Amino acid sequence: MGLFEGKTALIFGVANDRSIAWGIAQALHREGCELAFSYGAPPLEKRVRPLAESVGAKLVEECDVGDDAAIERLFKKVQETYGTIDVLVHSIAFADRRDLQGRFVDTSRDGFKMALDISAFSLVALTRAAEPLMTNGGSILTLTYYGSVKVAPQYNVMGVAKAALESCVRYLASDLGSKGIRVNAISAGPIKTLAAAGVAGFKKILTYSEQASPLRTLVTIEDVGNTALWLLSDWSRGVTGEIVYVDAGWNIMGLTVPLEHLDEMK
Ligand SMILES: NC(=O)c1ccc[n+]([C@@H]2O[C@H](COP(=O)([O-])OP(=O)(O)OC[C@H]3O[C@@H](n4cnc5c(N)ncnc54)[C@H](O)[C@@H]3O)[C@@H](O)[C@H]2O)c1
Repeated sequence: MGLFEGKTALIFGVANDRSIAWGIAQALHREGCELAFSYGAPPLEKRVRPLAESVGAKLVEECDVGDDAAIERLFKKVQETYGTIDVLVHSIAFADRRDLQGRFVDTSRDGFKMALDISAFSLVALTRAAEPLMTNGGSILTLTYYGSVKVAPQYNVMGVAKAALESCVRYLASDLGSKGIRVNAISAGPIKTLAAAGVAGFKKILTYSEQASPLRTLVTIEDVGNTALWLLSDWSRGVTGEIVYVDAGWNIMGLTVPLEHLDEMK
């Protein structure tokens, strides 16, 4: 019997089959979880619906997480379809491309608001909407990146948004713990996805991370999916408010050495 047999997960953030949310969805499906999907904008439907149908999803609905009325409509449908849910996956981020290059100091007020709203506040809004549906307790998971705690070139306003998101994880975990609802984040290493392509110089980040991380590899959406299984299941019953790194060990390194000098230092 699968680890998630009899459980239902609502997954936000599948845009295509390279999305981290899709890696998590596939892992949950393998363990017998019932899956529902929400995608961010109408043009994504043609990619998301076939993926959702391939894992037997009964509910595939659009929801722009910047719109409170859309969130309310979506959760009403989720309640009508499933009654309760056990798992919520928030795998969403957005910033204006202009704010993911150049100097952070030049971030506009509107760009800052947008990045923080869609990438951080949305976790609060979705958690609030999910709480009444998690009557048997639950597990909520979001995705973050190391650019929240240290400066990563060009990550700029998204680093600030991820810092806010990680703080939201702790406050939400504290609020909801007494109801048996846990809230955690996975801090993933760089993965070539649609969102990542928006960060200037992302290819170099991939090369550098692969060559300089302790495991000398890039992580995959399957790696993230497998750790997500642990965080979303009862195996991690005693864990909440945590940021778990799935980054081939990158975050433990204290000295980042330019690639061309790595070998000569051995
Ligand atoms: N790819 C990486 O290197 C990496 C590393 C660490 C963390 N992350 C995080 O993982 C998460 C998923 O990103 P991904 O890399 O899988 O890319 P992705 O482009 O596949 O997923 C991002 C998702 O956010 C959704 N989204 C954006 N604005 C939205 C809105 N207003 N309403 C609803 N949905 C909206 C998009 O539709 C898309 O499905 C993000 O939070 C990202 O910051 C990614």
